[in-house]
Amino acid sequence: MNYPSFKTTEYTVSRGKVPASFDGFRIAVIADLHDCTIGGDHSPLLQQLERLAPDLILLAGDMITETGRAPEHVQYRNAAHLLRQLPAIAPVWCGLGNHEKRWQEFAGEESLSFADWRSATGKWGIRWLENESAELVRGEDRLRVTGLSLPRRFYNKRKKVILTPAEIETLVGRADREAYQILLAHTPAFTESYMAWGAGLALAGHYHGGVVRLPFLGGVISTNFRLFPKYDCGCYPFPSGEMVVTAGLGCHTIPVRLWNPPELILLTLRSEGQERLPECRERVPLQQGRMSAGKEEVHGTHRV
Ligand SMILES: [Fe+2]
Repeated sequence: MNYPSFKTTEYTVSRGKVPASFDGFRIAVIADLHDCTIGGDHSPLLQQLERLAPDLILLAGDMITETGRAPEHVQYRNAAHLLRQLPAIAPVWCGLGNHEKRWQEFAGEESLSFADWRSATGKWGIRWLENESAELVRGEDRLRVTGLSLPRRFYNKRKKVILTPAEIETLVGRADREAYQILLAHTPAFTESYMAWGAGLALAGHYHGGVVRLPFLGGVISTNFRLFPKYDCGCYPFPSGEMVVTAGLGCHTIPVRLWNPPELILLTLRSEGQERLPECRERVPLQQGRMSAGKEEVHGTHRV
C-alpha cells in the first residue's frame, strides 16, 4: 500500500518533569508503517524529517507486517528502505509491536528471521529496546527511554486483558523517577497502567487512529475490534505526564484509512520555568505529497 501524503502533528509536552537540559528537545514518533510506503519511496517523509531535524526518532512498533502466510510470512522491504535512511537524520530507538512479536515466534527456515532483521537494522544504526532502556545524558540530567515488549497474550482480540503496573515492572524494571522517563509502548490499551508505572511520557500507536475517523466522534474501531476506542490518537494529559498516541503511517490486511491520513508526530519537550505552552497543544501542518515548508495551521488544544 502506498500513501501519497501524510500529516505531521506537533505536540508540546511538559508534565513529566522535563529536566532543564532537555528543554526544547524534539522527538519524532513513527509507528505502524506496516511495510507501506509514503510517496512511493518514503521521500516526502524523509524530507519532512530532515526539515524538522528531531534530536531523536522513536519507532513505536509494527514497522513490518507479519502475514502468517507462507511463503513470505513477513513484509519488510519497504520498512527496510525507510529504516536504512533514518539514522542519518537522528539516533533511532525502536520498540516492538505485536507484528514483530509474531515474527519472533515464527521459526520458518526459508524466510528472514526476526533475529536477522534486528541484526541487519542494528548495523544500520537502529537501536532496539526489547524490554530494555537507553539514556541520553546532558550534565546531571537524563532522558530515559524504556521499550516495553508485551507477550502476545496482551494483544488478544477476543477477551479483555489487564496489564498491571507490577507486570510492567516485571518486564522492564522500575521507572526511573530521577530521569525524564519515556515508555515506548505499542498498544494504548494499558495507558493508565503506563502512567501508574511511572511514565512521564508514554508513546503508542497500534489502533491506526481508529481506522475511520468521524467528526466529533474520532476513531471508529481499534485494531482489536473495539468500537470508539478511548485512546485512538492524540495527546492525553495525566497528572504526572502525557500519553501520546499516533494514528500511524500505514495499515495491513484491510487497507482502509478513511478521513484518517497517515501521521508523523513531532514532540517538543518543555521544562518547568520555561515559557509554557498550553498542554498538549498541537500544530498540524497540512500537506499534500511533498511538504511545503512553513505551511502550518494552529488548531488549538487537542481534545482530551
Ligand atoms: Fe499493532
